Amino acid sequence: MKILGLETSCDETCAAVVEDGRRVLSNVVASQADLHRKYGGVVPEIASRAHLEALVPVVSESLAQAGLAMEGVDAVAVVHRPGLIGSLLLGLTAAKTLAWLHDVPLVGINHVESHIYAGCLERETLPFPCISLIVSGGHTSLYASVGPCRHELLGSTVDDAVGEAFDKVASLLGLEYPGGPSIDRAGEKGSAAAVAFPRPWLGAESLDFSFSGLKTAVLYHVRGRGAGVKARESNLSARQVADIAASFEACAVEVLVGKTLRAAEKRGADRILIGGGVAANRRLRAQMGREAQKVGIEVILPAMGYCTDNAAMVAGLAYHVVLAGKVDGLGLEARA
Ligand code: KG4
Ligand code: ZN
Repeated sequence: MKILGLETSCDETCAAVVEDGRRVLSNVVASQADLHRKYGGVVPEIASRAHLEALVPVVSESLAQAGLAMEGVDAVAVVHRPGLIGSLLLGLTAAKTLAWLHDVPLVGINHVESHIYAGCLERETLPFPCISLIVSGGHTSLYASVGPCRHELLGSTVDDAVGEAFDKVASLLGLEYPGGPSIDRAGEKGSAAAVAFPRPWLGAESLDFSFSGLKTAVLYHVRGRGAGVKARESNLSARQVADIAASFEACAVEVLVGKTLRAAEKRGADRILIGGGVAANRRLRAQMGREAQKVGIEVILPAMGYCTDNAAMVAGLAYHVVLAGKVDGLGLEARA
């Protein structure tokens, strides 16, 4: 079964074709990062307009790379929640149009569930049951996952998502947008022990996360308490920027790894899966691998290209949704 997937929930226009939930025949991503850079974050109206321009070429390219015409597509899958409403509506309208025109089933996909599925692509067997950690610009959550579409929420952020914290700290340090990859690169050259930022554990048992206090701690460290200047104006040396980036990153990663292992211990899980844009972070990938290995837990990491938003994870998950008989009608709605 070949499924065409679309993903337009935020600022990337994505289309992919995946066969039988596993084999990625194409995976096309048109990034809008250049359009949003000067604003330091995603501008929803600009994102919607850019999706409108990119959708047709991106879908055509993904079909061409898969060596298919629409006649060879068995179903169309699309992320319809959660995300920026204008952005979601564009992907959803394109998917409905294609499904209706070519008389194939339409499959609505939850963006967060698709991030979990990213770790299942190109694997012989599904990794469930496992503990899933989803870390992105909008989400930081732990789940007990028992199947591709069955996830019990164990904990989530009570304030900022971890990706948001990476992005804001990068901006404070005067690093390039998007911030996560910039912190990843800058932190590599710094000392993680340079600044002792507070670890937000929220108590010995909690599986929830909090990153706004950490972000504020970095702000105070950079600007001084109560001051109001940007890092660019506060003359941090490249060395200081690298040290602060590494110290912040080490703090965030320690809490993510610690809580995920805590969840695995509580549930007696022997497998951990990570997904979402921050799963591309090299310190997180290495530290999760190391710490899990010590307690005999296997870590499943998506390939780098499947961490940030993409449609392969959408088309892959849709295969299991179709097998479960859960296809949608053209009345499917977008939900922010
Ligand atoms: O999953 P994603 O592409 O979109 C959302 O669903 O939000 O995640 C984007 C987030 C951004 O906050 C970005 O800065 C972060 O993932 N990110 C990273 C890295 N690559 C992307 N954070 C840390 N290290 C990275 N290498
Ligand atoms: Zn995402």
